Amino acid sequence: MSQYSKTTSLMRRGTDFLGTDYAILCGAMSWVSERTLVSAISNAGGFGVIACGAMTPELLDNEIAETKKLTAKPFGVNLITMHPQLFDLIEVCARHGVSHVVLAGGIPPKGSVDAIKAFGAKVIVFAPTLALAKKLLRGGGDALVIEGMEAGGHIGPVSTSVLAQEFLPELAEDHVVFVAGGIGRGQAIAGYLEMGAAGVQLGTRFACAAESIAHANFKKAFFRANARDAVSSVQVDARLPVIPVRALKNKGTEEFTAKQREVAAILDSGAIEMGEAQLQIEHYWAGALRRAVVDGDVENGSLMAGQSVGMLKEEEPVADIIAKLMTQSEAALARR
Ligand SMILES: Cc1cc2nc3c(=O)[nH]c(=O)nc-3n(C[C@H](O)[C@H](O)[C@H](O)COP(=O)(O)O)c2cc1C
Repeated sequence: MSQYSKTTSLMRRGTDFLGTDYAILCGAMSWVSERTLVSAISNAGGFGVIACGAMTPELLDNEIAETKKLTAKPFGVNLITMHPQLFDLIEVCARHGVSHVVLAGGIPPKGSVDAIKAFGAKVIVFAPTLALAKKLLRGGGDALVIEGMEAGGHIGPVSTSVLAQEFLPELAEDHVVFVAGGIGRGQAIAGYLEMGAAGVQLGTRFACAAESIAHANFKKAFFRANARDAVSSVQVDARLPVIPVRALKNKGTEEFTAKQREVAAILDSGAIEMGEAQLQIEHYWAGALRRAVVDGDVENGSLMAGQSVGMLKEEEPVADIIAKLMTQSEAALARR
């Protein structure tokens, strides 16, 4: 009997789906989820996911090739649905025989799910509402991630605990559902598994792993922060809907407010359309996150972090994080 037998038994559908030892995904994080972290997660028995973000097909091609050199275990690729070259990126995944593609950032455009399934990969989708979740699963999605507003990065308006209670009783029996957002300890994993989840996805906790290439300043800011420091951005202009982003409060948070005003004014002038305005906002985030993660500018950059950030105190190797989560989950289940 394995050391984590109760947990792995509840994770069975997730591990079968992912081809891993543990149904723990490290959610894609732009600039952070590259070859080093992704391969470390997969080599430790979890499931790493490359964040394609705004990468060109050539860059993604190289990243997948380099990741394959570092791990023989399964890993996924996260594609943003609004990427203008989405279908070229899917073709790159096909060439590499990527086993799992995660479609994030909105409703998958027509034909994208079929294009992924055509080369035999499994499609993982996100859905903010139950109705959309059902539609996407009917339309070819093989698994679903439900992500609550406690998470780092782009978020919806509903908490993980409520989404889990709403979605899992309806979907978990027939579908593979992973729960994400605000998970910092294995006890929470045990709870979601008992509710029917096939596994979980974490981001914030892994962003500061020893193998994460995030700048030392970025990690230090995480270790110093409390849960209440990870705040959601606010929409300043009713005419310009922006997807809220959860990040540690800093000067960059205020700059984003100014950026929204600037883009709203250009929108008002008629110089750009709404789609272009929203794309400008997304480009702003990508640049701001890069400044924090790569350059270590924790004042002006975006420190995207979930509320579980308050539980992070030190850099730990990925294998230790996964072992701790599994041990905590197992202990919680053993006490039941
Ligand atoms: C720094 C950072 C960057 C992120 N970037 C992305 C991204 O590019 N694409 C995506 O689908 N999710 C992104 N996320 C969300 C994560 O994949 C994951 O779902 C989330 O972090 C889980 O919640 P947690 O932070 O509470 O663990 C990001 C999260 C963080 C913290």
